[in-house]
Amino acid sequence: MTLDIARLRAETPGVDRVLHLNHAGSSLLSAATLAGIEAQFRREAELGSMEAGAAAAGAIDAARADIATLIGAAADEIAFTGGNSDGWGRAFAALRLRPGDRVLVGRSEWGGNLACLERAGLAVETVPADEYGQISLEALAGLLDERVRLLALTWAPANGGLIQPAAAVGRLVRAVGVPYFIDAAQIVGQMPVDVAKLGCDVLVAPARKHLRGPRGVGFAYVRRDFAERLDPAFVDTRSAPIGPGGALLQPGARRLESAECAPALRIGFGLAVRHALDLGVDHIRAAIAARAESLRARLAALPGVALCDLGVERSGLVAFTLDGWSGPRAQAALASQKINIGFNGRAYTPLDMDARGLAEVLRASVSYLTTEDELDRFTAALAALGA
Ligand SMILES: Cc1ncc(COP(=O)(O)O)c(C=O)c1O
Repeated sequence: MTLDIARLRAETPGVDRVLHLNHAGSSLLSAATLAGIEAQFRREAELGSMEAGAAAAGAIDAARADIATLIGAAADEIAFTGGNSDGWGRAFAALRLRPGDRVLVGRSEWGGNLACLERAGLAVETVPADEYGQISLEALAGLLDERVRLLALTWAPANGGLIQPAAAVGRLVRAVGVPYFIDAAQIVGQMPVDVAKLGCDVLVAPARKHLRGPRGVGFAYVRRDFAERLDPAFVDTRSAPIGPGGALLQPGARRLESAECAPALRIGFGLAVRHALDLGVDHIRAAIAARAESLRARLAALPGVALCDLGVERSGLVAFTLDGWSGPRAQAALASQKINIGFNGRAYTPLDMDARGLAEVLRASVSYLTTEDELDRFTAALAALGA
């Protein structure tokens, strides 16, 4: 079965209004996901939000179960979070590393994660990249030992199409028993994910990117046996309810979750995940890969454009520079034509940007919703800017 793109576009209100090539920033909600979110807010207004929240418990349980299915986990290994950094930061803080502890990162690591490591005073070492820009497995094998307290890998970076060999990394890391965190912000919803094959202890993603869920919500997977090692930096009535014997830290991923939340967003997240499962992530991956390669071929033929993607296997994020155009200026010029793209400065991926001497890159990121007609229009608009 291939995806019925015309039908999927007809079910997406945004595609008629914008040429959206910023799915790596945030994708477009389907009409059904939007309706589910709106309905919950309406119930909150009409019934009282605590009461409407209680009534939504079944839908939220179903959302958690579907997220678990999507990544090959169990429901008690999934915590809802407020987004990618919220999940990563909660899990990281709960590791309680000490200043000077040794941490290894890939060169494509997300800047927010690196900022957490820096602020904690850790000894952070970047694993060198191989000739394709991927984390070097050989170098990693040489650096891994029992003194390493964490290996953090951003599976697909924010500044290009690179996809890191996360499962091969997992095999090396597992062999020495070092905690392994994967930032899968750019992957979940775009590619099949199986946490058992990855061998990771923690994996985080937001709802809003390739899953097409709302902003302000995400999830953290915590491997069941690993949860015991997490001592959250703060707790509340959900993660550590007070019983007769005092505050009882909850088992599983729940110890990272907050009591207060937006049920409408969790419902919307669940609808988006169910949609991805129904479509089949393999089909989604094939459609995105085909569209991204088509875009790369078009851009490669444009004068003044330089592609900046690394890696062997590539995501739907196409990074490039355009002679004479800064990121914000190009973004604004295209926005005036109702074309959405992103750009990535140094702060998002400082290690890789510095290693490659890049100050910023433009990002055009596709979805299975993207059509060849849209790519024609986008390429023509870019050519006109370059002219
Ligand atoms: C790889 C990666 N990690 C983390 C983030 C941050 O996600 P959030 O804004 O949900 O915290 C992003 C956002 O683009 C990202 O691309």
